[in-house]
Amino acid sequence: MTDILDWTGADLERLNIESSASKAETVARRLIQETGNGDLPFLTMPYLNELKTQLGDLRGRLQSYDHMLLLGIGGSALGARALQKAFFPQQDMPGHEGPWLWIADNVDPSTLDGYLDRLPPEKTVVVTVSKSGGTIETVGQYFIVRDWMRTVLGDRWKENMLFVTGESGFLRDESEAHGITTLPVPENLGGRYSVLSAVGMIPALFLGLDVDALLEGAREVAAPLTDPELDAVTLGKHESFRLACWGKSLMDAGFAELIFFAYIPLWADFGDWFAQLWAESLGKNGKGSQPIPAVGVTDQHSVNQMFLDGPRNKACLFLTCPELPDGPRFPDELPAKFDYVQGKPFGELIRAEGLGTMMALQKNGVPLVEIRMEQDAPRQAGKMIALLGAATILTGWLMDINPLDQPAVELGKRLAKARLGADGLEPEKKDLDAFLSAGREIREF
Ligand code: PA5
Repeated sequence: MTDILDWTGADLERLNIESSASKAETVARRLIQETGNGDLPFLTMPYLNELKTQLGDLRGRLQSYDHMLLLGIGGSALGARALQKAFFPQQDMPGHEGPWLWIADNVDPSTLDGYLDRLPPEKTVVVTVSKSGGTIETVGQYFIVRDWMRTVLGDRWKENMLFVTGESGFLRDESEAHGITTLPVPENLGGRYSVLSAVGMIPALFLGLDVDALLEGAREVAAPLTDPELDAVTLGKHESFRLACWGKSLMDAGFAELIFFAYIPLWADFGDWFAQLWAESLGKNGKGSQPIPAVGVTDQHSVNQMFLDGPRNKACLFLTCPELPDGPRFPDELPAKFDYVQGKPFGELIRAEGLGTMMALQKNGVPLVEIRMEQDAPRQAGKMIALLGAATILTGWLMDINPLDQPAVELGKRLAKARLGADGLEPEKKDLDAFLSAGREIREF
């Protein structure tokens, strides 16, 4: 067995895959051009050797800390959290004695207060991750954490700081002003595509994950797409392109929702990572499909009823690993009504329930592709990240939209800044005044 996609339930007969598949030659040519131009570092990973050297240099320094506090949001946080939860579950278990990774990806005053009250500054390394170097949610937390560090450590505060940022922006200036160790977010590598750079690899290294295996897995999947000789036949057989054709044909057929159902429970947070990747990349010009992260078996007792018998507008990526550990055994003596599990490994339960749910979804008309992993190891995670990232980019191309930008989310950010009194933004301020002074329909409940 190896890592596979099982297309048996994909419903290819019902969908018009051909209209996308026939574009393989055009897409292959575009891939050759954009990878050649350096526009797709997510696939070409030109930064890899340098990153490995930088990580090697950092390893010892990171080991001297008990805590890492990561300040970042969106693509600067979700990949790191998925890796943490998948490969470092011990932090959520009794008796853990470190290291600890804390990911601050919100602007919740209570949470930040909690970190500042409880973390020991001298044993904490703060990693501020922002490609633009100016995201207020991240930089805002940085200002407060910097003061906290300074108060306790004095001039040594800089030693406990790391930045991961782009070529320019506030963090880059700050890094130069204070001589703070800074690793790059490579040019053209957008936040949600950046987990395989220092963005995700610094926290992964801190936790002791096998970063090399993860990156090698990703390279293995991405490499064929970066071949300057890539042709339509090779692309047509690449699973990322097949997924893209499927994703596009699903949207064309009115499947407005795409479930990411993880039956590797520790990989549940890849659901949030994927949701951001798919939603921010493809929700454009009235097009796209809504990603829905779900985790087996927990969500069988929650949202699965809707998946099975709600609107018939859902498709599913179903993530499994038949080789998950068996865990403890059920006792040999059990009440008669539970004798069907007697003496069996506990792991049989999730395998059987995964199979049952997958079949039920298919029987209820949900087109489904199973991503079946040989192991739940870092190499497999790297492969999945590359597969889904590439599939997302290619789906965007097939939809005729730009999968690398996110213009619509800017409006809310501008309005929030206007509300806080930032310079300029006159139209937004006018809009705000109108919104806030309009009559409201308010009722008590
Ligand atoms: O995927 C994206 O580009 C976004 O979600 C960003 O990651 C997010 O907005 C944070 O941006 P930055 O890394 O510039 O702080």
